[in-house]
Amino acid sequence: MKKSLKYIVLAVVAVLVISIFAACGSKTPTNNEETTAPDEGTTVAVEESTAPIKQLVMGTNAAFAPYEFVDDNGAFAGIDVEIAQTIAAKLGMELVIKDMEFNSLITAVSEGAVDMVLAGLTVTDERKESVDFSDTYATGIQVIIVKEGADADFDFAGKKVGVQAGTTGDIYITDEVGQENVAQYSNGAQAVQALMNGQVDCVVIDNEPAKNLVAANEGLTILETEYTVEDYAAAFSKENTELRDAFNTALAELKADGTIDAIIEKYIPSES
Ligand code: ARG
Repeated sequence: MKKSLKYIVLAVVAVLVISIFAACGSKTPTNNEETTAPDEGTTVAVEESTAPIKQLVMGTNAAFAPYEFVDDNGAFAGIDVEIAQTIAAKLGMELVIKDMEFNSLITAVSEGAVDMVLAGLTVTDERKESVDFSDTYATGIQVIIVKEGADADFDFAGKKVGVQAGTTGDIYITDEVGQENVAQYSNGAQAVQALMNGQVDCVVIDNEPAKNLVAANEGLTILETEYTVEDYAAAFSKENTELRDAFNTALAELKADGTIDAIIEKYIPSES
């Protein structure tokens, strides 16, 4: 009897020891911050329970509705914002948005000032030299906005074209008509304002933002000719293939379960 009691005590102790080891062991994978191991065990427990979840910093230019904009409550909203939020949640990360000039986004991500860019950003070979793109999640079309009445037989000859600086619209149109015929603005709304004021004759910009801008300003129309069709994707530093891969995996799941379509439909309701 005495002997078996001894075994039971031993067994209990063994189980305790194992579970303590297991508990310590399980700390390691969850503690993915770069903190060095503190000396006192108690400190570890406190740090872990209050450790902030890892941030996922997205650079964007939030003047591009319906992809990214600041809503009436002052919050970031739009297709890219919701896709990024959903992916961050899937990765167990907290999304932080940095709003900046469109022109500085590629440099910001390639230099590590932000982790990724979602900005209705078109995949181009030239940009691929500085950043890695995710799989594509939407299509954009460059269109031409003119004043109503100016749409008959439109061509660029003798025209001043307004663009958002650094966009594909800017790049393609500058190639076509020359720098001297292009006026760069820091966002699409400013370019459209210049069109309203007669400082430019047309604006080249992505189709969905174009529709919003035309709806918000009277007397404008979008030409039927589509200038170019493009793919939108998120951009990452070439050093950060791990994050890009995780993003792509999450994106594929969200495409498969209909989440991406639902987000797009929320901001761009398909005409029935
Ligand atoms: N799709 C165009 C480009 O990549 C324009 C994007 C502008 N995006 C923005 N958030 N302002 O160049």
